[in-house]
Amino acid sequence: MKKAETSFSELLQSFPPEEGSIIPLLQNAQARLGYIPEEAVEVIADYLKLTESQIFGVASFYSQFRFTEPGRHSISVCLGTACHVNGGATLLETTERELNVKPGECTADKRFDLNRVACLGCCALAPVVKIDGEIHSKVNVINLKEMWNHYD
Ligand code: FES
Repeated sequence: MKKAETSFSELLQSFPPEEGSIIPLLQNAQARLGYIPEEAVEVIADYLKLTESQIFGVASFYSQFRFTEPGRHSISVCLGTACHVNGGATLLETTERELNVKPGECTADKRFDLNRVACLGCCALAPVVKIDGEIHSKVNVINLKEMWNHYD
């Protein structure tokens, strides 16, 4: 993480070495790197003179933080009430099984990462799956698999 370390040093200097800097440092790290690698947590912990557990402890309250590397494309399966009652759980299970990936993780070929979300704000279109920024509505197991083919 040579390049990341360089930009990380610059990043650290812009925040005071105190506990209140944890969240903005994590946000900035994620914005730069796309996720927060373990090395980044080590560097932040070292700078703030805290343990890595303390950093993870604070970060765990915020669902915005991602600690695993994202894939080239992000699949978000909605499990909000409307989507759940219309088959969202089946879509998630199918995605997990067919792509061999768990929520919060990335496929071995780095093609997709998988996330489950509470509600994407378009319940009338349930069940909904979002891939990158694109909302796919009224998804079923057949068109779910076809959708993946549009992403390399
Ligand atoms: S519950 Fe899925 S979009 Fe609202």
